[in-house]
Amino acid sequence: MIEAIGVIGGGQLGRMLTLVAKRMGYHVVVLDPQEHSPCGQVADEQIVAAYDDRAAIEELGRRSQIVTYEFENIDIGSVEHLERCGYRVTPSSAVLRATQDRLLEKSFVRECGIATTAFAAISSRGDIEAAAECTGFPAIVKTVHGGYDGKGQWRVDSVAGVHGAFEEARGAVLIAEREVEFSCELSVVASRGGDGSVVAFPVAENAHDRGILVRTIAPARIEPTLASQAQEMASAIGRRLGIVGTYCVELFLTHGGELLVNEIAPRPHNSGHFTIDTTPCSQYEQHVRAICGLPLSPPRMFCGAVMMNILGDGTGNHLMGTEALLGDPSIVLHVYGKRHAVARRKMGHFTMLVDAPIDDAILTRAAAAHAKLSWR
Ligand SMILES: Nc1ncnc2c1ncn2[C@@H]1O[C@H](COP(=O)(O)OP(=O)(O)O)[C@@H](O)[C@H]1O
Ligand SMILES: [Mg+2]
Repeated sequence: MIEAIGVIGGGQLGRMLTLVAKRMGYHVVVLDPQEHSPCGQVADEQIVAAYDDRAAIEELGRRSQIVTYEFENIDIGSVEHLERCGYRVTPSSAVLRATQDRLLEKSFVRECGIATTAFAAISSRGDIEAAAECTGFPAIVKTVHGGYDGKGQWRVDSVAGVHGAFEEARGAVLIAEREVEFSCELSVVASRGGDGSVVAFPVAENAHDRGILVRTIAPARIEPTLASQAQEMASAIGRRLGIVGTYCVELFLTHGGELLVNEIAPRPHNSGHFTIDTTPCSQYEQHVRAICGLPLSPPRMFCGAVMMNILGDGTGNHLMGTEALLGDPSIVLHVYGKRHAVARRKMGHFTMLVDAPIDDAILTRAAAAHAKLSWR
């Protein structure tokens, strides 16, 4: 029987997961190197240690009946170590391995019979010419491991540009991708239970600014057939991965109407925050249910949503303007409890609840609401 959940990673995803787990009566222990982490603030206990601290990881295993993680750039060796010691970890190290590495990930998607943009590996200078041949320009060069929120990426226009990226990456293995000219970016948050059942939330439509998510519209403003296709792709990926828990599949919709999978996150996702305020069972609750062997809940949205991320800008650590923001009764505010509002750091988000189809007027209202916020 599961009474305590261990979470590797103490960020906002872990925090939102923990808030739900607490509501459901679980004891939560988090492991994060940063004392008083966003997740640690709401969990029962925090183990302050590095992700690759084997003794601390074992301690997390001892203090819980199931261990999960809230971001994928953790040490895979630690997850394997937990498994070898006989502790239960979900998603498994096999899932983590396939999704931590952008090359393995895109190859896996193709093995599922699902399209991706053209890509090639660059592990030495000698690979650059052939990779450029494969992708053409402009291309996006990314580190294969460790990137997030657009970090570790270079947009390049020439072979010389790829060489530049290779120098800057200082020996990291890279992937070059053809830049997709998309009409929009989409994501599907889904959850798979231990019994193999999969539920997928309505497709979300995402806007990024220099690689970082800034706005999600749900449901996405796309044809229902495309939406079902995207959900089916996500379900197929989850089944083939054998993941247990909530995960997210990010896609591009090309101008030609083709869906290309960009990446898979083996955890709850920023673009699924809307599920907290618009569904009876959020992506976080589905995750708790999945890892604890409880039935999943068929997703249902009470209303539409525009989710806006609140990023730091480096000018101060106090969020100003919340009084004006909450003057709009359709807005729900979430703040993550991070002390330092470093530029472009995810500090919080708000969800605007929408009963009508989402049009430009609503998006303008959401942007105006966002503009009321500042840092001091
Ligand atoms: N091949 C590509 N073509 C066009 N845009 C891309 C491509 N790869 C990444 N991007 C843009 O950069 C964003 C972040 O890249 P992504 O691969 O999702 O990395 P991560 O989210 O892990 O930082 C994407 O959401 C998209 O806006
Ligand atoms: Mg991404």
